[in-house]
Amino acid sequence: MCGIVGYVGPRAALDVVVEGLRRLEYRGYDSAGVAVVSQGRQFLTKKAGKIANLDKALAESSLPRTGLGLGHTRWATHGAPNDVNAHPHLSANGRVALVHNGIVENYARLREELAREGITCVSETDTEVVAQLLGLQVEAGVPLDQAMRAVCVRLQGAFTLVATDSENPDVVVAARRNSPLVVGVGDGENFVASDVAAFIEYTREAIELGQDQVVQITRDGVEVTTFDGLPADVRGYHVDWDLSAAEKGGYDWFMRKEIFEQPKAVADTLLGRHDADGKLTLDELRISDAELRTIDKIVIIACGTACYAGLVAKYAIEHWTRIPCEVELASEFRYRDPIVGPTTLVVAISQSGETADTLMALRHAREQRARVLAICNTNGSTIPRESDAVIYTHAGPEVGVASTKGFLTQLVACYLLGLYLAQVRGTKFDDEIRATMRELESMPAAISDVLSDIDTVMQLAADFVDAPSVLFLGRHVGYPVALEGALKLKELAYIHAEGFAAGELKHGPIALIEDQLPVFVVIPPQGRDMLHDKVVSNLQEVRARGARTIVLAEVDDDEVTPYADVMIRLPKVSTLLQPLVAIIPLQIFACELASRKGHDVDQPRNLAKSVTVE
Ligand code: F6R
Repeated sequence: MCGIVGYVGPRAALDVVVEGLRRLEYRGYDSAGVAVVSQGRQFLTKKAGKIANLDKALAESSLPRTGLGLGHTRWATHGAPNDVNAHPHLSANGRVALVHNGIVENYARLREELAREGITCVSETDTEVVAQLLGLQVEAGVPLDQAMRAVCVRLQGAFTLVATDSENPDVVVAARRNSPLVVGVGDGENFVASDVAAFIEYTREAIELGQDQVVQITRDGVEVTTFDGLPADVRGYHVDWDLSAAEKGGYDWFMRKEIFEQPKAVADTLLGRHDADGKLTLDELRISDAELRTIDKIVIIACGTACYAGLVAKYAIEHWTRIPCEVELASEFRYRDPIVGPTTLVVAISQSGETADTLMALRHAREQRARVLAICNTNGSTIPRESDAVIYTHAGPEVGVASTKGFLTQLVACYLLGLYLAQVRGTKFDDEIRATMRELESMPAAISDVLSDIDTVMQLAADFVDAPSVLFLGRHVGYPVALEGALKLKELAYIHAEGFAAGELKHGPIALIEDQLPVFVVIPPQGRDMLHDKVVSNLQEVRARGARTIVLAEVDDDEVTPYADVMIRLPKVSTLLQPLVAIIPLQIFACELASRKGHDVDQPRNLAKSVTVE
């Protein structure tokens, strides 16, 4: 939530910052603003709405071309998304410009304190108090980095802060606690940002900042300290994707591009996971096999789409390992006094690695001495940093707010974890594990097959563009697919959509079925006869009540044809892996329908990609 960029170097800071904000706009798009320093002054422009509004304002304001600046794209928490509340915020003396991601929980008290000193905040934000406190410090002669440390220790909550001081035109100072911040290390120039996408055009060398650290960047230097002013240990890394991955590459939406990248994302996530003999080797798994053998319960914590990946994982992990596996919304986990301990493996799934709900749940699990493994797509992010082990998905940057390739690669990582546990604990024979791995490795081709035949689903999106409501049904691993299909439609098309366990329908939701209501039904592969037949019965039940049925079933599944108004054919894969192909038409349906409705598919209303507030 909220995207932040800071730059110092020989380029025009304004261009670097605005381009960076464009790539971070997925993090929030309620308002945007920039500030550059020139001739001992802060020059600032900010505007409510998307960056396009800021562009217009900038065209009229001709800010100076200087080498020091910062910018922000906002997902509002405190204060309405208007021009005044937009970031950057200036200190009353005009010296400090500040941008912030997160929430300063004790801002009201600090605001009162400032009022007592005669400083009135002009905005309703929690952020402005920090700008004012920094302004007082620099006014008293304290250098900006020292001022930042002094102020940070007084703040409660989550924050990434980036500040400049008009009387020190060579320095950008940033700080973080519980919100993301990376440093981009260039040649004669340096960057700070919420995400490497902001500076990937200029450098692929990055430094991840730890908790409670302050960084000062100049053209030639990067200095990281703790909030106490001590030198901090930092880890540099090379970003393994480039600018083209962060751009649309000819697609109308990032989401559509990301849907079509899924065969590669799945293949990349599977790369290098076994040795020549087929033995799985998950080298980012820093928990010993001996420890894994002691695990007697798995708890998966995640939010939204990532949680649905976890629901699929439960079926696979329990089936392959016989370890009981629970799946819980991360936002609920720590509030119910969960039973976890040293023999519990908590699996935190997060594409961004920054989701506050998941992070807080993870911390709670660690306090209970559980072992925590992260499944994550973002190198250097907080969730893997705070976990005992990590399986990275290799989806590349996911920019569309609605998760697509993130979901598929999370599924793959969950399957890998399940198979690895089965190998370590001996609950599957080696040849069974090898066979499942071979099937997983054939999935990119199966996904490509689905993607090469999307005419039916594109037509459906056109036909249903005015549908007021759509239902999705599935059983077993088809149930989370139904939930995910409904979530995609809700968040992109803003229409009522619900996913149900097909067997649960008769316990209430069947009352929703009325004439011509579109109902998607995910039919399991025919191999599991009882499961298959039960879902076919559920399909008949809804059709008999007038629903328009859109049936996703295997290529040669003729049994369902009489009950389908529209058939979407899926490649033949085993039951547990079917979500990898069954979700694709539902992603395309939501993307296309939202597009036809004229919605911004990449930036749906009220949402932001990286949800760093609880
Ligand atoms: C929906 C979606 C969200 C995220 C959720 C968790 O399309 O993208 O539901 O899945 O906010 O995000 P991460 O995986 O970054 O923790």
